Amino acid sequence: MEVIVCATAEEGSDLAAKEVLGALSRKPDLVLGLATGSTPLGLYRRMIDAHRRVEADFSKVFTFNLDEYLGLPPGHPQSYRAFMDQHLFRHINIPPDHIHFPPTHGRDVPAQCEEFERDMRRVGGIDIQILGIGADGHIGFNEPTSSLGSRTRVKTLMEETLRDNARFFNDGTRQPDMAVTMGIGTILESKRILLLAFGTTKVRAIQSTIEGPISNMYPASALQLHPRVTMIVDEQAAAGLAMREYYKRVYRNKLSLEGSVMP
Ligand code: GLP
Repeated sequence: MEVIVCATAEEGSDLAAKEVLGALSRKPDLVLGLATGSTPLGLYRRMIDAHRRVEADFSKVFTFNLDEYLGLPPGHPQSYRAFMDQHLFRHINIPPDHIHFPPTHGRDVPAQCEEFERDMRRVGGIDIQILGIGADGHIGFNEPTSSLGSRTRVKTLMEETLRDNARFFNDGTRQPDMAVTMGIGTILESKRILLLAFGTTKVRAIQSTIEGPISNMYPASALQLHPRVTMIVDEQAAAGLAMREYYKRVYRNKLSLEGSVMP
């Protein structure tokens, strides 16, 4: 696992944006896996800014979002679809039929989940998957005890996750306690994964993900099995890492090998 400890969330978002925009310039039909939550907002702002500066064209890009609540009416302001429209899609030029979400309506959701994964394969699979992380170590909505080989499916949310997200449902809407999420097996098939974590609430999850054993009790720890994961964390989220100074030295060495800075 590559671990990059940044001074601030802003610096972390800069790095993530550099990765995504660099990949887009090399592959205009980039397939992006996208996450909701406050963590990737800095990255999305930078993607929007690049588009406004006419430096980034998303017209051939495909996107697949990680998860969506089950039981919210379509277009509900607290749906993840509405979140993505507000914070990214309406500001850039991804064609609407290139945007994919896990299915949450209609008949036979499990069959639609298989179709969602088929759509992913049809465009060549996810090139870069963006991830945040829940305080309990979940990725997408793969809560503790999720199978590490799981595929897109319905999950019941943990109490801690419901509490963390309750603030979004103080408008009287009943907070859904189920969601449809890409599985851990689905996520592990992405060619490249960028996990972002900022702030003190992520200390335990980040320590377990990077330095703990692979365990379904910390679903993100399954990322240790993936050959191209970069964890972009700020100093606050990195506070529990025993080998923090080592990761910094590894990263400095990588930059010096690339000729960016002198060793
Ligand atoms: C939700 C989402 C996750 C996200 C997590 C953290 O549970 N399903 O994909 O990573 O929230 O959110 P935040 O970035 O706001 O801390």
